[in-house]
Amino acid sequence: MPVVEQNVSLRPYNTFAVEALARYFVPVETAEDIRSVLADPRYGSLPRFVLGGGSNTLFTRDFDGLVLHMTGGSVELVDENDGFYFVRASAGVVWDDFVRKALDNGWYGLENLTAIPGTVGGAAVQNIGAYGVEAAERIVEVECFDPDRRVVRVLSLADCDYGYRTSIFKTAEKDLIVTSVLFALPKVFEPVCSYKELEAVFGDKKPATARELEEAVRAVRARKLPDPAVLPNAGSFFKNPVVTRVKMQRLLEETPSLVSYPLGGARTKLAAGWLIEACGLKGKRRGAAGVYERQALVLVNHGGATGAQIKELADEVAGAVRGRFGVQLEPEPVIL
Ligand code: EPU
Repeated sequence: MPVVEQNVSLRPYNTFAVEALARYFVPVETAEDIRSVLADPRYGSLPRFVLGGGSNTLFTRDFDGLVLHMTGGSVELVDENDGFYFVRASAGVVWDDFVRKALDNGWYGLENLTAIPGTVGGAAVQNIGAYGVEAAERIVEVECFDPDRRVVRVLSLADCDYGYRTSIFKTAEKDLIVTSVLFALPKVFEPVCSYKELEAVFGDKKPATARELEEAVRAVRARKLPDPAVLPNAGSFFKNPVVTRVKMQRLLEETPSLVSYPLGGARTKLAAGWLIEACGLKGKRRGAAGVYERQALVLVNHGGATGAQIKELADEVAGAVRGRFGVQLEPEPVIL
């Protein structure tokens, strides 16, 4: 059985680098590991928190329960057909290691999702997305451990109920613990370059190789998004809010320069970073917690901020946007 430790600092395990203690902490890799930990009467009925790379989590207090840290595992080619390689990756595998391995092997389709912090499990739970591609577009099925019934379950893509930065694992099936993910990765490289910043790089001519595209995405990210190892953060702190077309028309009357993306139907997605910047909050600091200077959607820890301080800054940002535009921003990270 994996070794359960007590009173463990979670600081090394969250990319905001805030301090919080876990009463119990255990690294796990497989469904069998989880089963054996939960079978122990000391741990089976404790409150649980599943932690991957900690790149989408904000701890505002200590956790008086059991943290299951999904870590390690493998990436395996399990099957192929004419169009796709089918690749299974364990939940604890570092997402970017998976992306690099895919590139090295000529398994395409993950180029736009390069350099995103976190793990494969986290990617499947919150449907990570960047530069025109979402993880769900490459997922076939997700294997989970059901901690209540203590069985392994396999959810099809449809079962996962994916949406923008959401899935069934964030809604109706919060208790399920993702243990591995099966991806279908195209054999032929088909570049997705429609995102404004990639269009600016490639213009009319598409990138010839996946590596060329991957490098361009990596460079765009490096310009705008802080490296958590240098300036702790959790990527976008808020989701881009979706409003009705009616509301959008009203907003545009007041603010014609508003940045938005029509979603089809009666809905429009607004650029939350733009809204925050328009409130004059880009670069704002509250103690050591700050709004990043180059991308207002990202909150950063300039050094020594507590999770509670970052949460206060987030509330202040959301309050300002609500006050000015009447739009409610929802946090992207899990706040504990
Ligand atoms: N903008 C501003 N000011 C800012 C930030 C953005 O005016 O401070 C404007 C930009 O000029 C642009 C628009 O807002 O016109 C959108 O900005 P950007 O292209 O940087 O993307 P985003 O909407 O801020 C989203 C994702 C990112 C993802 C990028 C690229 C969300 C919440 N965020 O950011 O994902 O990398 O698109 O696809 O959907 C993450 O989820 O952690 C994340 C980093």
